[in-house]
Amino acid sequence: MKEKEVQNYETLIESARKIVSRNGVSRDQKLQEISKLLADNVQAFDWVGFYLVDPNANRELVLGPYVGEETDHTRIPFGKGICGQAAETNETFVVQDVSKEDNYLACSVHVEAEIVVPVKKDGEFVAELDIDSHKKDSMTEEHRKMLEKVSEIVSPLF
Ligand code: SME
Repeated sequence: MKEKEVQNYETLIESARKIVSRNGVSRDQKLQEISKLLADNVQAFDWVGFYLVDPNANRELVLGPYVGEETDHTRIPFGKGICGQAAETNETFVVQDVSKEDNYLACSVHVEAEIVVPVKKDGEFVAELDIDSHKKDSMTEEHRKMLEKVSEIVSPLF
């Protein structure tokens, strides 16, 4: 169990901004640090990572930097699973109970809730932030707002 829970998401958002603005650090390194920042500071977040649109494939996501258990889902076609559906709609997808979803790809048996937030570049879907929780009903409106802000912050990296 993690002991930490930040009291104020503004601090997290500020830290994300700092990570993105650093010089001499690759995009993937920054995405890795942001994944860790979120996983370390939010109790409900057990797996945090990015899926990126593969420019060399046809409507397919490829796993990018992440923190948490290894996943078999390293490539996900648009439309498949929660991740693929968010890629198709270009909208945040919140699932409070994954057992109720038919179109779902299990990353681990422990996962009970998931949120996927698109990263947009000039309105176009370029990547997504995917977060799993081991607790049902754990994705709050505050989480969603904070993650959508983080998504805007990482957008210039693409
Ligand atoms: N659960 C996701 C697959 C990715 S793993 O959670 C890391 C989905 O249904 O698309």
